[in-house]
Amino acid sequence: MEHFIRINDASTSDLRRILELAADLRRQREAGVPHAPVLEGKTLAMLLEKPSLRTRISFQVAVRELGGAVISLRPDEVGLGQREAVADAARVLGGMVHGVIARVIRHSTLEEMAQHAGIPVINALSDQSHPCQALADALTMMDEFGPELTGRTVAFIGDGNNVARSLATISARLGMRFILASPQGYELPDEAFEEIRARQGDARLELVRSPREAVRDADVIYTDTWVSMGQEKEAEKRRRAFEGFQVNEQLLALAPPHAIVMHCLPAHRNVEITDAVIDGPRSRVFVQAHNRLHAQKGLLGVLYAMV
Ligand code: CP
Ligand code: NVA
Repeated sequence: MEHFIRINDASTSDLRRILELAADLRRQREAGVPHAPVLEGKTLAMLLEKPSLRTRISFQVAVRELGGAVISLRPDEVGLGQREAVADAARVLGGMVHGVIARVIRHSTLEEMAQHAGIPVINALSDQSHPCQALADALTMMDEFGPELTGRTVAFIGDGNNVARSLATISARLGMRFILASPQGYELPDEAFEEIRARQGDARLELVRSPREAVRDADVIYTDTWVSMGQEKEAEKRRRAFEGFQVNEQLLALAPPHAIVMHCLPAHRNVEITDAVIDGPRSRVFVQAHNRLHAQKGLLGVLYAMV
């Protein structure tokens, strides 16, 4: 694996190694055992064109605990595609640092960087996908259901967005069934399911319009904001369109009793998910957030040949 821009950049054995290593490194950390300094002498540049709490802190801590360093670049200062061409900036970075962690407004920026940087480029969220989130999501599901997730059902309630796309992809790759419940016009684009099926012919992907139908056989009920970063102007329209798609106790009552609730955060409490659910006994939301740290250590370990 050269880059990690989408889940499908990783082979199935890479994905398994990332998740196994993540769990191993988490155990080491909990036991107070320092990690092998696989990133010793390595510096990664971090450039986030959109706000972040979880992604920034988890990568900074992960790299530090693996012996490396992160330098944060201010996007307004670098001016990717404005002050200079993305390709030029990527070539410059490639001669000085050992990797780039980038959160971008346009997914194509990542692809262009990867083409020219000559060092690993990691997607820290784009308008299309959020593969690092999906790694932490899979780790959280393995914590709950064991390492074999084949046959489990993930119900994503809400917007067919970047998080949904990466989650659908990793679900298919790990043999899970993925059901998306979205209102008309807010589902994933057709090409998202097509891309997954091209790689995974037997992928079980479904689109429904009813959250109630989606959760019926769910092992995992997942939601995310209805208004992603950059869509703030559409907030009112979106909130109207997503009426009836809230993850609340009434919806949970229709799911199997063992089903857990996940959300990538940040959450809009009492909008897409209620306080009672996010703070309730079936929520794994904060463990899921903490798993960002461990999953990304697994990713870095595999990208930089720790295992
Ligand atoms: N879930 C997630 O990526 O959070 P941040 O936007 O805070 O990084
Ligand atoms: N879909 C959200 C995810 C935030 C982590 C967004 O893109 O804003």
